[in-house]
Amino acid sequence: MKLSIIGTGYVGLVTGACFAEVGHQVICVDNDAAKVKLLQAGGIPIYEPGLEAMVKKNVASGHLKFTASTAEGVQNSEVIFIAVPTPPQPDGSVDLSYIERVARDIAAAMTSYKIVVDKSTVPVKTGEKVAETIKRYCAAKVEFDVVSNPEFLREGFAVGDLMNPDRVVIGVASPRPAAAMREIYTPFKAPIIVTDINSAELIKHAANSFLALKISYINAIANVCEAAGANVQEVAQGIGLDERIGRRFLNAGIGFGGSCFPKDLSAFIKISEQVGYEFKLLKEVQRINADQMERFVNKITDTLWVLKDKKIGVLGLAFKQNTDDVRSSPAIDLCQRLLQDGATLRVHDPKAMAKARALLPTVTYVEDMNAVAEGCDALVVATEWEEFKQLDLARARKGMTAPIFFDGRNLFDPAEMEKLGWIYKSIGR
Ligand code: UDX
Repeated sequence: MKLSIIGTGYVGLVTGACFAEVGHQVICVDNDAAKVKLLQAGGIPIYEPGLEAMVKKNVASGHLKFTASTAEGVQNSEVIFIAVPTPPQPDGSVDLSYIERVARDIAAAMTSYKIVVDKSTVPVKTGEKVAETIKRYCAAKVEFDVVSNPEFLREGFAVGDLMNPDRVVIGVASPRPAAAMREIYTPFKAPIIVTDINSAELIKHAANSFLALKISYINAIANVCEAAGANVQEVAQGIGLDERIGRRFLNAGIGFGGSCFPKDLSAFIKISEQVGYEFKLLKEVQRINADQMERFVNKITDTLWVLKDKKIGVLGLAFKQNTDDVRSSPAIDLCQRLLQDGATLRVHDPKAMAKARALLPTVTYVEDMNAVAEGCDALVVATEWEEFKQLDLARARKGMTAPIFFDGRNLFDPAEMEKLGWIYKSIGR
């Protein structure tokens, strides 16, 4: 099918590439002309495993094109996906101005029947507003349908998540767009759930809030484990093997971050409030998450006593593994807290150092993870990168003034670490 995607951020670019990969004819639109040029020349503005090869292949085969013109995208496609940012406002509500702008631009360019699909994460009832806006600004008065099709991809696994989704959610008001959407998603061989538009919009916020709740739950359990002398990983295993609970997203740590969970939680609390329900449970999820960082910083200061003039090595800057994204990263938060207390930092991340530079201009960036500990009073793990498990512990220890290790992601085994002579502190164990 002929598709266009407005917005080439994480969601838009990966969606465009995957739709092209399964044989659709895709035009990706972005109003950032420099980004469009970069993409046309084969450059990829984000790090996402598998994406670059997929984009290059589909550009070469002519299935994937990039343009800065919304009109070009709209006029050459039957279905138009909106994948623009929906950033948070200071009060937690969602800024929908990019969505509204795009709805107007689409309306202005429409000359024949179109299906306009919202893929950005939006508050319930946004579809209604998009439909009203298009109707108001469409001079040609052509027919159109609005669809909600929330995206559940995780950064770092975006291509895999998109090619093999657990489910595809399609919110429609009539059968015609439902049939077109089914056709688009047939090659993905995933269960398709067709709902009304409001329910589809709500599914996204409800899903992300539940996952955040699951993480805060295990972090709260970790705190009980610490107080009671139990091991949170064993507890997670024990409860997670119950299929009704599931083992995934039960990793205790220094809390969740990124551009989705914190934002979507705040938005869902606000949306619920607006429709008349105070979602106290989700407020507690937020509180536990903030507290988790506090407790970890306290663990560090309890051991090191004074942070002023202490040299600390930090492994991990991205908000999680397999990404270069540092937006709302707990690791960056932690670094800023340690710097505020007067520590100096030597940091390493396999992918996120370039993006971290703007947020942490005063730290020393170390290319080799095994060299981070040199001259340090303590070593901290802040992001759950698998490769940190391969750290040369003997070399790290040799270069440090004291063998102190704070593992904010439970990557190492406490008994092993103690056997190797480390003063080792982790989460809930
Ligand atoms: C999330 C959702 O998973 C995805 O479905 C949605 O589309 C966007 O938001 P993402 O933000 O890319 O995806 O990352 P995710 O893998 O969910 O991790 C989010 C945060 O939770 C990270 O900071 C991660 O470190 C943390 N986390 C995750 C934990 O602390 N423990 C866990 O067990 C899992």
